[in-house]
Amino acid sequence: MTEIVIDEKYTNPSEPSLQWSNDLAVDMAPMDETHVEFVALLGAAQMASDADLMDRYQDVLAHTEDHFEREDRWMAQTQFGPMGCHAQQHDTILQVMREGLRRGRELHQLPLVRQLLHEVGMWFEQHAQTMDAGLAMYLKAAEFDPETGVMAKPEAVASAPQC
Ligand SMILES: [Fe+2]
Ligand SMILES: [Fe+2]
Repeated sequence: MTEIVIDEKYTNPSEPSLQWSNDLAVDMAPMDETHVEFVALLGAAQMASDADLMDRYQDVLAHTEDHFEREDRWMAQTQFGPMGCHAQQHDTILQVMREGLRRGRELHQLPLVRQLLHEVGMWFEQHAQTMDAGLAMYLKAAEFDPETGVMAKPEAVASAPQC
């Protein structure tokens, strides 16, 4: 991971930097439910004391691994055209977050972890409103059922754009 310049404001617990709002909703229930949970876990980690920070951070990471695995699976099941760039963003964020876990646990770089949480929040806002919103629109048009992995209307997305 490239070195990050740590801002003084990340040395202490802070209020959550991201709040759930309709601006983040993609109108697909399973995706929105996961995103609501993500926002709550991120906020809990930002508010955590130094003693609790890494456990709360690990909660965010575990939830994010599950969250991204699910979206990646849906994209694979529906041959979603822009899957490559979307899944690649997920991989990049997970790599950075895992490095943050290592830095926090092994090197006790807690301000770096706090800054990372803030930056992951900013990344998420943009990702939800672009890539996730596009995926949700595609899945809804195809009448995709996340339970079965089956599209009722695959013809509706036959000409979806690529990356
Ligand atoms: Fe998502
Ligand atoms: Fe995503």
